[in-house]
Amino acid sequence: MELPFAESWKIKMIEPIRKSTRSEREKWIKEANYNVFQLKAEQVYIDLLTDSGTGAMSDRQWAGIMLGDESYAGATSFLKMKDMITKITGFDYVLPTHQGRAAENVLFSCLIKAGDFIPGNSHFDTTKGHIESRKAFAIDCTIDEAKDTQLEVPFKGNVDPKKLEICLAEHHDKIPFVIVTITNNTAGGQPVSMENLREVRKIANKYKKPVLFDSARFAENAYFIKIREKGYQNKSIKEICKEMFTYADGMTMSAKKDALVNMGGFIATRSQEWYDCAKVFGIVYEGYITYGGMSGRDMNALAIGLDENTEFDMLETRIKQVEYLAQRLDEFGIPYQRPAGGHAIFVDAPKVLTYVPKEEFPAQTLTVELYLEAGIRGVEIGYLLADRDPVTRENRFGGLDLLRLAIPRRVYTNNHMDVIAVALKNVFDRRETITRGVKIAWEAEIMRHFTVKLQRL
Ligand code: F0G
Repeated sequence: MELPFAESWKIKMIEPIRKSTRSEREKWIKEANYNVFQLKAEQVYIDLLTDSGTGAMSDRQWAGIMLGDESYAGATSFLKMKDMITKITGFDYVLPTHQGRAAENVLFSCLIKAGDFIPGNSHFDTTKGHIESRKAFAIDCTIDEAKDTQLEVPFKGNVDPKKLEICLAEHHDKIPFVIVTITNNTAGGQPVSMENLREVRKIANKYKKPVLFDSARFAENAYFIKIREKGYQNKSIKEICKEMFTYADGMTMSAKKDALVNMGGFIATRSQEWYDCAKVFGIVYEGYITYGGMSGRDMNALAIGLDENTEFDMLETRIKQVEYLAQRLDEFGIPYQRPAGGHAIFVDAPKVLTYVPKEEFPAQTLTVELYLEAGIRGVEIGYLLADRDPVTRENRFGGLDLLRLAIPRRVYTNNHMDVIAVALKNVFDRRETITRGVKIAWEAEIMRHFTVKLQRL
């Protein structure tokens, strides 16, 4: 008999988690204004809010922490991190930042001015925020297939070359760069194919525009290329990463995802011009150019995390766990963005809560219901997160409305996945009794989902 699949690691340290009662949760979520960001972590049993900074570090990474060099300038920890980034990406210039959005802030301070257009594939909310707060416009050129959650296509995160070309032709003197997010978080943790990266590069070259990768989950993207794209089966993850980055001029990185650290980020580029400008903003916003918001110990852990997570076994263990949860949801007929993404399952909320109108935020309603059911904290990636149109101030109901269940790296077991699946099934079974959603009582001008106050209708 063939042996079943199992994790490529074993557990050395554990952290207790707590269950709660439904009446406790009713009280807590009300106090949190029906916004799961406002819950205390100890009020949560299984926390799927994000896979960002919530992973478990390895024994090698903890050993690296002890060897951190905390020198203000020229620390060995920085040099180790820089060498690893250059080895994996081919980019020679590296500027640390405290996390991904800080990398965006520093680099965009150099590149974006008011009135610019930034085409890309479903810009993440902080990326959009850093574009729109500079009075520029994020133009979404994701392929249309990404909007149909039930369609099984292997690279649902791709940029639509036609949409990109139209945008470049129309606005080309107002476009400082093209951005590609790998994997495409907002479209469901969906990968972008190597062929698509190559094509984006070709189109950008035609208009003499640089290409930036938002690389938070680039290693997971490389795993999907190896598994799904012709010609890459026999290449190592590190070889695939190296090729991916040949199609970019630079990257912003949230190291809290695929570099397996709890805090950290960086900009890496082959452009001396970008680096020279970013250095100045980096010093003002983040810190000196060899630490930029990170401690030496964290840079050591980041270097080791990047090395570990660009190995096939580590990625296979992770992505197979996400697939396992997807299989359990299939058993119960629960609709989610297909196929399962790299870091999360995205439940198609309007297909579950068919009686909740879009103005009452179905995905946020489902997020609250799942918390009430079992103390599981997912997050809305939908109409609340989409914010209002900066010009008309209307809610943006044009995209998907999803409940994201993000799986932290190396943290939960498949028993936890079973609890999540059954809790969701229980909500699914009583979906027809859920007819009203939530309404906004207070919201911030941008990135409202973090702090929004809601009322249950
Ligand atoms: N880009 C992508 C694709 C992201 O998913 C994130 C963060 C960022 C940039 C910003 O990085 O958090 O280090 O400042 N995503 C987290 C999430 C928050 O839950 O998906 P950061």
